[in-house]
Amino acid sequence: MKLLTRMTKARLFRLSVVVGSVFMILLIIVYWDNVGTAHFYLHSSFSGHREVLPTVVKGDGRGSLSDVDEFLEKLLTTDLRSRADRKTEQPPLQASSRPVVGTLEENVRGYDWSSHDAGTMLDQEKIQAERRETLRALCANSSFAFPTKNRSFEDIPNYELNHLIVDDRHGIVYCYVPKVACTNWKRVMIVLSESLLDQGVPYADPLNIPRKHVHNTSTHFTFNKFWHRYGKFSRHLMKIKLKKYTKFLFVRDPFVRLISAFRSKFELENEEFYRLFAIPMLKLYSNLSSVPTSVSEAFKAGLRVSFSDFIQYLLDPRTEKVAPFNEHWRQVYRLCHPCQIEYDFIGKLETLDEDAAHLLQLLKVDHLLRFPPSYRNRTASSWQEDWFAKIPMAWRQELYKLYEADFVLFGYPKPEHLLKN
Ligand SMILES: *[C@@H]1O[C@H](CO)[C@@H](O)[C@H](O)[C@H]1NC(C)=O
Ligand SMILES: *[C@@H]1O[C@H](CO)[C@@H](O)[C@H](O)[C@H]1NC(C)=O
Ligand SMILES: *[C@@H]1O[C@H](CO)[C@@H](O)[C@H](O)[C@H]1NC(C)=O
Ligand SMILES: *[C@@H]1O[C@H](CO)[C@@H](O)[C@H](O)[C@H]1NC(C)=O
Ligand SMILES: *[C@@H]1O[C@H](CO)[C@@H](O)[C@H](O)[C@H]1NC(C)=O
Repeated sequence: MKLLTRMTKARLFRLSVVVGSVFMILLIIVYWDNVGTAHFYLHSSFSGHREVLPTVVKGDGRGSLSDVDEFLEKLLTTDLRSRADRKTEQPPLQASSRPVVGTLEENVRGYDWSSHDAGTMLDQEKIQAERRETLRALCANSSFAFPTKNRSFEDIPNYELNHLIVDDRHGIVYCYVPKVACTNWKRVMIVLSESLLDQGVPYADPLNIPRKHVHNTSTHFTFNKFWHRYGKFSRHLMKIKLKKYTKFLFVRDPFVRLISAFRSKFELENEEFYRLFAIPMLKLYSNLSSVPTSVSEAFKAGLRVSFSDFIQYLLDPRTEKVAPFNEHWRQVYRLCHPCQIEYDFIGKLETLDEDAAHLLQLLKVDHLLRFPPSYRNRTASSWQEDWFAKIPMAWRQELYKLYEADFVLFGYPKPEHLLKN
């Protein structure tokens, strides 16, 4: 009893300091367990990128870093620097030292091994600077408005961060947009982050990764998973990573993306999309009371959703009341939060080959891999008029309104030829 009463306030205070320190140390251990396994690559690729990219105005009015942020940030920088000093003599990564496939095979697969000269690099850099500046100016312009534009990064719910894939080994964040070469960029992220093993060895060639693994969400470390690992510190860590890492996304003409989504999900037999989307569309817009339960039966009976049904579904106010747009047709601004996240690189599908080559150089990973060529029958923008021929003008204009922010933010001109008689 006496002993307990003698335990003064000062002692309690000392005890809490000790407990607090232990907690911080534990936090650091947990943190480095995941992030700290990154080696000097993070630092070198990162500082390299800073030299190449012109400085972007950072963090105006977006809230300053809290104490925890600053603490972790200092830790991150100093530790990485010392690691870099210590490790520069080390041999390169296992992945890069694995023998490359024979040149014959590369040619067959359509790899482009030609090096890009300095002139192209400068042009590319100018294009990127313009795209970033367009985005920055529009985000700062209060007369340009779209839903969710004004909210802060803290206000974005976790589940809306599920498209941001992180590679801690090289310091990269990729926001994937379905129907914009995302399968191949996800493959690249798997190779870079070594997040998937093939018989115990990380995949070194993006093309070797089976499609079913590429689209399995458990393969990728996305921002929405941070909460499970870091709890209430997850936002701080995300903010640090967003500040330090190179962030990129790929975009595409919004209407062409919609046509592409329609072609791949409703023209081909897709059981899941038939069940979730085609059945309701057929019932609502084709006035059918009963429809076959499987897609093959429906196709045999000649029942297919038309592009017009699809557009009607997008414009139907009831659609979003059931669930947010599926990611294949959700607006890019809702998937990638371009006013909350300052992207360093904005690629376009229309110039995929050049943009991909430039990006891999910027990321300093062009010696590790090449961007896989794609053989698929890509939806061309010249087909738009045929696709929209049967869509009433009023619907087209409504549809433009629905996707206007994507058109404007990413510099796609308004398709006047589709919107006026
Ligand atoms: C802001 O946007 C409006 C309309 O979108 C445009 O007319 C105006 O020039 C923009 N202002 C600035 C400062 O860019
Ligand atoms: C966003 O904020 C600006 C002023 O900062 C305001 O003029 C605008 O109406 C707001 N937009 C939305 C969609 O809330
Ligand atoms: C995704 O991968 C996890 C772990 O590798 C596996 O357990 C799961 O069954 C996979 N899901 C699908 C849909 O293939
Ligand atoms: C839809 O079908 C029902 C009978 O199945 C019919 O009574 C109704 O008039 C139809 N509506 C339209 C708009 O075709
Ligand atoms: C690509 O698809 C379009 C429409 O689906 C078709 O008209 C065209 O012939 C196809 N091209 C090739 C090379 O398969």
